[in-house]
Amino acid sequence: MIEDAHSASHDPGSQWSRYVDAVLGFRDYWYPVLLSRQLGRKPRSITLCGEEIVLVRDQGRVYGLRDRCPHRGVPLSAGRCEFAGTLTCAYHGWTYDLASGDLAAALTDGPESPIIGKASVRVQTYRVEERAGLIWVWVGDGEPSVPVETDIPTGLLRPNLAVEGLIRVQKGNWRYAAEAGVDEGHVKYLHRRSLWTFFRELPAWNVIRVLPTDDGEWQARIPQHTSFGDHYPGVGWWPPRPRFWQSRAREPAPVGFRLPCWVRIQRRDWTAYEVYVPRTPDTYLSVLLATRQATGFAALRFRAWYYLYSRWAYQMLFNGQDQWMIEHMRIPPEQLYRPDVSVISWRKLCHQQARGAPIGASRPTPTAAVPAVGRPR
Ligand code: FES
Ligand SMILES: [Fe+2]
Repeated sequence: MIEDAHSASHDPGSQWSRYVDAVLGFRDYWYPVLLSRQLGRKPRSITLCGEEIVLVRDQGRVYGLRDRCPHRGVPLSAGRCEFAGTLTCAYHGWTYDLASGDLAAALTDGPESPIIGKASVRVQTYRVEERAGLIWVWVGDGEPSVPVETDIPTGLLRPNLAVEGLIRVQKGNWRYAAEAGVDEGHVKYLHRRSLWTFFRELPAWNVIRVLPTDDGEWQARIPQHTSFGDHYPGVGWWPPRPRFWQSRAREPAPVGFRLPCWVRIQRRDWTAYEVYVPRTPDTYLSVLLATRQATGFAALRFRAWYYLYSRWAYQMLFNGQDQWMIEHMRIPPEQLYRPDVSVISWRKLCHQQARGAPIGASRPTPTAAVPAVGRPR
């Protein structure tokens, strides 16, 4: 493992080339993209694995269509649901069936419009499901090869689960964000100056192994040896002695990761999930979830704690430190060190076990070429 870390490089011929190629993620997965409550009557546009998609809620179901009207290329997300089961483009009123993507009517060309039924005016549809308070979209060719539950962590499907979350578009490629999520070494330095860790004595360093969890669902970082302070030859003692208000955690919070882009951090009485959803080569969707199995007053108390403290101190400030790094990284090249065994394990997992093909940045973009014409005067 140590040798792996020292000889690691980030070139496409390396041992995790499928990961390097996955600029826009992997096909054949369900990805979470919105909290269910974020989609009301108004269509919403999202970008997922390089594809622009409009999500529409109609009569209790959520549908997904490519966010581009075949007529003149206007985003369908600017349109509205004029009739049940359809979405009407904002420009000339072409009206699409939400389930099939077929052109159902061209309102401004009369009921007998000859454009109806033409294959070239059909809009691509996406399979969408709602589970665990989230909207999930399938990225793949054809019908999903697995049910959505396969790609949802079991913990998120437990009954009576209070789920709160913060979903934001962030700068940086999804792979850098995922790597920050699994990165072992940074917690002990970058996050040392954070409100979230203010009362905690953090270790100086540790040695870890990465092993699958008993249920096989996650790859877990398992500490083998932990030091809370050491003398570093030629440099001195680090870190400074803890303040009187700082105490050691009895157990480190177990951290696990799984495909296609998930990290789970298990706390004593709640669980954090972080999903780094591929979006464009330079942006990703940060899906940060806080969950607790609770009902009634306990659920209410959890939600109050989330909105009054954890959303701000953890998801914004603590995770904001990671974001600061993600936006400033300049790789390749890179030289990895011993704690990066977690990063290497993650890359290998992607390379060896990702279900679908890596999606590269060279996929044709959905935007039509704009003819070079002057502006009318
Ligand atoms: S651009 Fe959509 S109807 Fe014309
Ligand atoms: Fe972090």
